[in-house]
Amino acid sequence: MALRLTLSLLPALVAAEPVLFEPNPFASGQQLRGQTEDSDPFGDAVEEPGPSDKWLRDISTRTKNHFKKLLQPLQNPIVQEYQVLTILDGYVNYTMQLVSNATGHEVVWNRTGRFLSEEPRALAPRKQELPPRARYINKILIYLNKEMEVVWNLKTIVDRKRWGVGNVITSSPYGPHGEHPERWRANGSFPLPTAAPNNSILLQDKTINLVFHIKPDVEEHENKYATQLQADYESLVHNINDASQKISDLRTRLWKMEDFAKQFIALPSGVWNKIDAN
Ligand SMILES: *[C@@H]1O[C@H](CO)[C@@H](O)[C@H](O)[C@H]1NC(C)=O
Ligand SMILES: *[C@@H]1O[C@H](CO)[C@@H](O)[C@H](O)[C@H]1NC(C)=O
Ligand SMILES: *[C@@H]1O[C@H](CO)[C@@H](O)[C@H](O)[C@H]1NC(C)=O
Ligand SMILES: *[C@@H]1O[C@H](CO)[C@@H](O)[C@H](O)[C@H]1NC(C)=O
Ligand SMILES: *[C@@H]1O[C@H](CO)[C@@H](O)[C@H](O)[C@H]1NC(C)=O
Repeated sequence: MALRLTLSLLPALVAAEPVLFEPNPFASGQQLRGQTEDSDPFGDAVEEPGPSDKWLRDISTRTKNHFKKLLQPLQNPIVQEYQVLTILDGYVNYTMQLVSNATGHEVVWNRTGRFLSEEPRALAPRKQELPPRARYINKILIYLNKEMEVVWNLKTIVDRKRWGVGNVITSSPYGPHGEHPERWRANGSFPLPTAAPNNSILLQDKTINLVFHIKPDVEEHENKYATQLQADYESLVHNINDASQKISDLRTRLWKMEDFAKQFIALPSGVWNKIDAN
C-alpha cells in the first residue's frame, strides 16, 4: 500500500518551492498556454500517411492525449515524495539540534566537495526541434523531471545532514565534551529543540510504506517522436520508483542515526566510548 498524504500539506510545499510545483503543467498555465485541448491548433492531418511518413510526422492527437493521460497522475507521487522529504528534513534537523546542544558546536554538514555528483538523474533535454504535439508532451516531461530534480536535491541535503551528525558522533570518541571535559567550552548557543517532530511517517512501530511500484504503461509506437516520448515516460516512472525506495532507506538510516545520537548524548565525557555511526 502506497502512502497517501493529505493535500492539506500542499500550501507549505508551495511556499517552500515557489518556482517549481506551483504552476500546474496540466492547467492551461503560462508555460503551455495556447496548446491546451480546446485551442489545439494542430488538428489531425487529413491524409493517410505512408509508412516512412508515419515515422517522421508529428504524433497524432490521439497519441498526444494518450501520453497526457499517462503523465497526469505522475504529479501526485512526485509531490508526495517531496512532502515526505520535508518531514524527514525536519526530523534530521531535530537530531542535529540534539547533538549540537550536547557538544556546544554546530554540526558541519554542508562542506563543499562532498557528495557533489551523488545522483545525477535528470532527463537531458533533447537537442532537436520537435513538432508541436510532440513538443507539448515533451514540455510536460521536462517539467516533471525538473520536479524530480528538486526531490533528489532535497534527498541529498537530508542525507548530508544525517552524515554530518554521524561524523560528529564517530569523531568524538570521548563523548560530547571530549577527552578533557574540564577544558570544554561551548562555541555558541544551541538550545534544545522545543518539540520532537511528531508525524506518523516517522513512527517506527507503525511503519508506513513509502515505496512506490508504479508500472509504466508499455507500448510500441510506429513514430519516432512517440518512441522517444515513450522512453522518457518510462524512465520518469523508474526515476519516481527509485526515489521512493531511496527515501524509504533514508528514513531507516535516520532512525538509526537518532538512536546513535541518543546513545552519544548520554555518554560521560572524558571516557573512551567510540560509536561508529557512519
Ligand atoms: C531544517 O533546517 C533548515 C536550516 O535551519 C531550515 O531551512 C529548514 O526549513 C528546516 N526544515 C524543516 C522541515 O523544518
Ligand atoms: C550548501 O553548500 C553549497 C555550496 O557551498 C551552497 O551552494 C548551498 O546553498 C548550501 N546549501 C545549504 C542548504 O546550506
Ligand atoms: C565556532 O563558531 C564560529 C562561528 O559561529 C565558527 O566560524 C567556528 O568554526 C566555530 N569553531 C569550532 C571549533 O567549531
Ligand atoms: C542546551 O539546551 C539547554 C536547554 O535549551 C540550554 O540551557 C543549554 O544552554 C544548551 N546548551 C548549549 C551548549 O547551547
Ligand atoms: C502533532 O500531533 C498532534 C496530536 O496528535 C496533532 O494534533 C498535530 O497536528 C501534530 N502536528 C503536526 C505538525 O503534525
